[in-house]
Amino acid sequence: MSLLKEISLVKSSRLAALPVLAAALLLGACSSPSNPDVSARQDIMKNYGDAMGVMGDMMKNPDTFDAAKFQEQAAYLADNANSPWKHFQDKEAVGHATDKVWSDADGFRTQAENFQQAATDLNFVAQNANGVADVGAEFKEVGASCKSCHTDYKQKDD
Ligand code: HEC
Repeated sequence: MSLLKEISLVKSSRLAALPVLAAALLLGACSSPSNPDVSARQDIMKNYGDAMGVMGDMMKNPDTFDAAKFQEQAAYLADNANSPWKHFQDKEAVGHATDKVWSDADGFRTQAENFQQAATDLNFVAQNANGVADVGAEFKEVGASCKSCHTDYKQKDD
């Protein structure tokens, strides 16, 4: 699933909160959502999705580019790029992660580092950006780094 699709799914799921809640309760039966590490990292990931959604909307509609708003989201990602990983230590806390998070811990760490670098780069260029052209390449890199990790380390939603 493409990142943008994923983001819009996240957004639309907010709008349709009730059925999603029901689905979450059903899913919860097998994926222990009450685990504090799982919910902490899922919350951070959701916030990543929201930040990417705000910036992605501006990328799609360049006239709406708002430098201060874009900077805020880019800074948020960069400042929190290190936050989820400590919540992946307990391999019993599966959530929607794949086994590879633990069986290929080095690969997972590399993906996390690539994302942190991409988020740092985006935040750097965002500080002096006057339009989407100034941040386009770096924004794409961040999106690619999210997607690249999800390909192997996050269960497909279906
Ligand atoms: C190094 C790996 C990695 C990177 C980088 C990464 N993610 Fe994730 N993401 C995961 C894993 C693993 C899960 C599943 C977590 C779970 O359910 O326990 C996940 C889950 C999610 C979810 C679903 C959260 C939920 O409610 O269950 C969203 C949304 C998400 N990521 C967005 C993003 C965005 C946007 C980025 C980039 C800005 C990103 N992720 C970067 C590994 C990553």
